[in-house]
Amino acid sequence: MSELAEKIRSVIGTKGVVSFARFMELALYAPMLGYYEREAQRVGRAGDFYTSVSVGSLFGELLAFQFAEWLEADVHGKHQLVEAGAHDGKLAADILGHLQKFRPQLFEQVEYCILEPSFARQKWQRETLSSFAGKVKWFDSLATLPSVRGLVFSNELLDAFPVHRIGWDATAQQWFEWGVRWENERFVWARMAEPEAKAVRGQTLQVPRELRAVLPDGFTTEISPVAAEWWSAAANKIESGRLLAIDYGLRAEEFYAPNRANGTLRAYAKHRVCDDPLANPGEQDLTASANFTVLQVMGELAGLKSEPLATQSQFLTRIFGNTIPAKERFAEWSSVRTRQFQTLTHPEHLGRPFRVLVQSR
Ligand SMILES: C[S@@+](CC[C@H](N)C(=O)[O-])C[C@H]1O[C@@H](n2cnc3c(N)ncnc32)[C@H](O)[C@@H]1O
Repeated sequence: MSELAEKIRSVIGTKGVVSFARFMELALYAPMLGYYEREAQRVGRAGDFYTSVSVGSLFGELLAFQFAEWLEADVHGKHQLVEAGAHDGKLAADILGHLQKFRPQLFEQVEYCILEPSFARQKWQRETLSSFAGKVKWFDSLATLPSVRGLVFSNELLDAFPVHRIGWDATAQQWFEWGVRWENERFVWARMAEPEAKAVRGQTLQVPRELRAVLPDGFTTEISPVAAEWWSAAANKIESGRLLAIDYGLRAEEFYAPNRANGTLRAYAKHRVCDDPLANPGEQDLTASANFTVLQVMGELAGLKSEPLATQSQFLTRIFGNTIPAKERFAEWSSVRTRQFQTLTHPEHLGRPFRVLVQSR
């Protein structure tokens, strides 16, 4: 058994069961052992899955172009660009590289901050960004980040936050929570006698009444209070500017579509979806769709104004359109960039499943 599986077993301990959220947190982030804590190649061709960043530098260049337009429209001198979930620092390098070349004045003024709780990941980021030493500052959490004039953004951060997996008991007309047990030498699903998620304990999860009546027994979905809290805390950091997330995600009602009766939780290894999210903890990525409705509400409660939710395709195509008349501020549209653009925006690739939420103050 792997060291991480041993650790999860010891956390399950005598209680006999842990919530899936705790299992996922350990599987992905247990110090030195979790999936995102070890220096293996996770993202890209040699890894387990692609992100828009691993497609090439175009994604960062387009974002940098848009960020610069937003920041330059604000007359205040110093700005911060805050990236969360920077992983190996590649997106930061693409953005900073573009700004340095095409917006040298803004590049001088901007402070690039990375929110990174893990020291292992901070180390990889420092290596990738060595040519920008002195330009980038690290913060280990939102709590230590000063208030922001500019932008807080992330790519595929919120869909990597731990989720509680919950099920519908049609007879009792109640939600219950799925936990994880160790049985016959493997981790297995087990209904929790005492749910951990507050919304399940208090049965406060909002489900439209007409849906409640037809929701099949055992209907499964996920909730991520950690993602909601993170978004709320980030929103409260914005003194002026924007909060932006690009994520695999859905509106609240879309979680209840019949084809999602088993939820949105997925495990990936070597570019394949794996059947069992509980198998091989630390060796496969675990992810679940972000709930954009919840994030939007959290941001609005913190006083932010929402822009209409866009698909990645719509968002990047709009930026592309703005680069055309601004030739001196964008790299040449070579065949390599054009191919990357197609992958980033094509509905069958990354264009439709990824959505972009922008809120501002
Ligand atoms: C799916 S990866 C995305 C990586 C990168 N943004 C990209 O697009 O290629 C998710 C990243 O979020 C990081 N992460 C998870 N929780 C975080 C938190 N609370 N603050 C900052 N980063 C976090 C993970 O360690 C991982 O590097």
